[in-house]
Amino acid sequence: MDFLNSNVQARPQYGVILKPESGLPLPVKNHTQLEIGFGNGEFTVQYAKATPEIFLYGVEISQACVLRCARRAEGLKNLKIINTDARYMLRELFEDEALEKIIMQFPCPWPGNGNAHRRVTAKDFSDGLAAVLKVGGVFEMVSDDEDYSREVWRVLGNHEALNAEEFLINPARSITTKYERKWLEQGKNIFSITFRKLKNFTVQRRTSQEMHIKIRKKITQENINSLKNISGKDESKKAFWKFGKNFTDSEKFLLETLTSDDEFEQKFYINISPRDEGFLIRLDKTSSAFLTPAVRAALNDAAEKLCKNS
Ligand SMILES: C[S@@+](CC[C@H](N)C(=O)[O-])C[C@H]1O[C@@H](n2cnc3c(N)ncnc32)[C@H](O)[C@@H]1O
Repeated sequence: MDFLNSNVQARPQYGVILKPESGLPLPVKNHTQLEIGFGNGEFTVQYAKATPEIFLYGVEISQACVLRCARRAEGLKNLKIINTDARYMLRELFEDEALEKIIMQFPCPWPGNGNAHRRVTAKDFSDGLAAVLKVGGVFEMVSDDEDYSREVWRVLGNHEALNAEEFLINPARSITTKYERKWLEQGKNIFSITFRKLKNFTVQRRTSQEMHIKIRKKITQENINSLKNISGKDESKKAFWKFGKNFTDSEKFLLETLTSDDEFEQKFYINISPRDEGFLIRLDKTSSAFLTPAVRAALNDAAEKLCKNS
């Protein structure tokens, strides 16, 4: 019956995928490592299999890639992956000193001044990276782009907590990635650069775990409708939100909401349900969103406007 199965794709191992509601920071064991931007997960799964003594997390912004990796991960107990933006979320996902190694292979070099905040060299990202690594832990970046590799080497090498340790050209690597094979076939050089964390370093976290707002007013369908297409931004102008359509089930409402924190975008539902003498406003349980400043601001804004309008 093998020929029948050969056309059937492996089913994704959904247990390997973490959701925002599983809570932050993510738990870590003795030898916990992270791969950022794992693509189709080929390296990720082979690496987790080849090194059963480590626990590996993977963060990937593309949902399709997360599902592809989950398909390969059958039977793996030392791998968990999460679908989010590592640029914004790295410091939120882990506590200080959580990881012994962070691996990033063939990241987009994001050329140009307008993209500087998206590069590994952006202060927000390199500070987060320095915080979540253990002292003595290592950040390894592999790239086909020499200019980018040299820029990362220079900028991260000047970080107060990091030491630029090794710059290798075409190192022998036992497990390769899809992009690596593509560049090697084209005769390109591969650059591998390694940094070690030298001393304690911390950064401020921006997300929180729980938020409920209670209002002592009766909320009607009309009140909820008045929020449609209302948008707002906070004082820092880094957090934006916009309310969309709503759904009603008896006295309970779900309000579609979009937020952006420094270009980290999330879409979710705000749940507005009767509680005691009034209404309770919170993130709906079906929403896979992190409680970032923009999400908290959207919840506060919805509560304030519903109080005024009711
Ligand atoms: C050029 S591909 C390399 C994939 C894989 N590492 C390889 O070598 O085959 C870059 C990957 O990084 C992911 N990525 C880009 N920005 C990201 C971010 N901010 N957070 C997490 N993943 C990101 C992309 O979706 C893509 O899968």
